Amino acid sequence: MRNPPRLAVAGVTGAVGQEFLRILEQRCFPFESLKLLASARSAGKKIDFLGKTYRVEELGPDSFDDVDLALFSAGGSISKKFAPIAAERGCVVVDNSSAFRMDPNVPLVVPEVNPEDIEKHRGIIANPNCSTIIMNVPVWPLHRAARVVRCVVSTYQAASGAGAAAMRELEEQAHQWARGEAITSEIFKRQYIWNLFSHNSKIDPATGYNEEETKMLRETRKIFGDESIRVTATCVRVPVLRAHCESINLTFERPLSEEEARKVLADAPGVSLVDDREHNLHPEPLLASGKDDVFVGRIRRDLSQDEGYGLDLFVAGDQIRKGAALNAIQIAERLLS
Ligand SMILES: NC(=O)c1ccc[n+]([C@@H]2O[C@H](COP(=O)([O-])OP(=O)(O)OC[C@H]3O[C@@H](n4cnc5c(N)ncnc54)[C@H](OP(=O)(O)O)[C@@H]3O)[C@@H](O)[C@H]2O)c1
Repeated sequence: MRNPPRLAVAGVTGAVGQEFLRILEQRCFPFESLKLLASARSAGKKIDFLGKTYRVEELGPDSFDDVDLALFSAGGSISKKFAPIAAERGCVVVDNSSAFRMDPNVPLVVPEVNPEDIEKHRGIIANPNCSTIIMNVPVWPLHRAARVVRCVVSTYQAASGAGAAAMRELEEQAHQWARGEAITSEIFKRQYIWNLFSHNSKIDPATGYNEEETKMLRETRKIFGDESIRVTATCVRVPVLRAHCESINLTFERPLSEEEARKVLADAPGVSLVDDREHNLHPEPLLASGKDDVFVGRIRRDLSQDEGYGLDLFVAGDQIRKGAALNAIQIAERLLS
């Protein structure tokens, strides 16, 4: 690939797209030229970036003729339609949507876990689901230490995971409540402020699992390269603006003491420990917001399992960042290295 690449950001006006720009700037990501793409609704809109004013262009089949690397976050149907066109024209796509994640010809990558899979790409590399990334970053080093045979995870997912409009809706409901007005809802079709509810993805009538929960199982197996790991998830939206939390319960094949687990996590890339029992300080969305690492705390032996075979964790991670834009840019950095 040409280095520095001619770069495009598709979906630049969205929650993930805006984060792409912030991270490109923060990490001094090299590029020769930059194209900002979104829907016809945003075409012509001006965006200032690194001292230059860019005009947003409508994403179309010719958008990638002069692009070497494209960061996609414009939704699954747009990725399905345009990522193969871009790849055919020699552009490498790092895609944030779910469109290609389970395609056997497309690597699904968390750089802290399976960076070697990047090399297998044929023009498209998939970024995993945000809840999956946030779980995988701390679980992977424990899996390597003692092999996780089963993982029970419950998520506490922020509005930002559903995009910029969902964040605006939660803020608007807070204003409506404060003004004593009736609460309105377009996106989640229910009151979100002061409430929580089962994740808003489709439920499989046969299994009862929603799509987010199924992704956490399937994607973890693909990323870990371990079809035998058992994962069961319950995914819930909570009225938090940004950053997901997860309660994670693990069962190991080999015993791993709490002290050993703590040491493994302290040394793990992309993980920060916040585990202060005395002051009850543990991972929180406000702590994780805007940060790169996944924060891990409440590390404790699961007393319901044989000693050394079970562990509980509570984690928080900024899912627009590590769960989406940052993970994709880390993949792109490895492509260029
Ligand atoms: N939010 C997260 O935490 C997160 C995490 C992981 C993965 N993802 C995935 O990333 C993608 C974007 O998510 P988001 O949260 O950033 O959503 P969002 O805030 O709703 O932004 C969507 C973006 O896609 C663009 N877009 C929509 N329709 C388009 C079209 N027909 N042609 C070109 N561009 C179009 C929008 O442009 P306009 O402004 O012009 O409409 C906007 O830039 C989704 O696939 C999502 O599943 C999101």
